[in-house]
Amino acid sequence: MAGNRFNSYSDHGVGIGLRIPHYSHIFSQKPVVDWFEIISENFLCDAGRPMQVLDRILEQYRIVQHGVSLYFGSATEPDPEHLRRLKQLVRRTNTPWLTDHLCWGSVDGTYTHDLIPLPYTWEAVHRTVERVKQAQHYLEIPVAVENVSSYMAYKDSEMTEWEFLNEVVERADCGILLDVNNIYVSSVNHDFDPMLYVNSIPAGRVAQIHIAGHSRYEKYILDTHDHPVIDPVWQLYARAIERAGYTPTLLEWDDHIPTFDEVHNEALKANKYLEAAKPAAQPDSNLAGVL
Ligand SMILES: [Fe+2]
Repeated sequence: MAGNRFNSYSDHGVGIGLRIPHYSHIFSQKPVVDWFEIISENFLCDAGRPMQVLDRILEQYRIVQHGVSLYFGSATEPDPEHLRRLKQLVRRTNTPWLTDHLCWGSVDGTYTHDLIPLPYTWEAVHRTVERVKQAQHYLEIPVAVENVSSYMAYKDSEMTEWEFLNEVVERADCGILLDVNNIYVSSVNHDFDPMLYVNSIPAGRVAQIHIAGHSRYEKYILDTHDHPVIDPVWQLYARAIERAGYTPTLLEWDDHIPTFDEVHNEALKANKYLEAAKPAAQPDSNLAGVL
């Protein structure tokens, strides 16, 4: 793993998302948490309550920034003012890397606020690579792209989602935020083998992993982030850790949020797999050292 700039942060261990219902518990109890993930867009202001909270959190905890609006696959350039504020926040939090989604969602400055899957075409590869490179260059920190859950596909796609992910990260020279729950959700919705996906990604580029729960309906799965992680997702996680080694892991829980301890305890289940990976911590990818 020498030379992989992402895995030098493997001491980050298991984190959870920083969510408003947990603020009072965190400030009063000061629980031991490896790190918190924040949604960057919630803190792109100069002052006020969000920044007061953030500064208090930063006094005691490590933060990693996760974004929802860089839209690496959108045809239009990202808003320069958005990027400027994002960079300001990067400097404030000292986030070691920054993540956002492999999707599109804006047209000519109008934002959908949705993470819309991309057509997996060469045209989309080239555009996405340029956007990721621009973001990495401007923000001056490593960027990792997250695979999204999806409910639609394009007849124009020229490759599988995992082939698309491979092409983007190799060409952009960036990391992967591997969301194994998203892989599971999409595998059911689109009828592919989720383990084939995990086995096909360049393990040496996995900077972080997301785990989460979802809601199952009769004909599809919705990525609701409001349940514990199910066993098939843990199996994908176990395989991802086996391939990528000890990797910073984050539990997403965004709706019907239970107590802090319930969320944290669910996240800490990841340690069962992470601890086993600690001694070796070697990826089976021949891409290690590229980053
Ligand atoms: Fe995620």
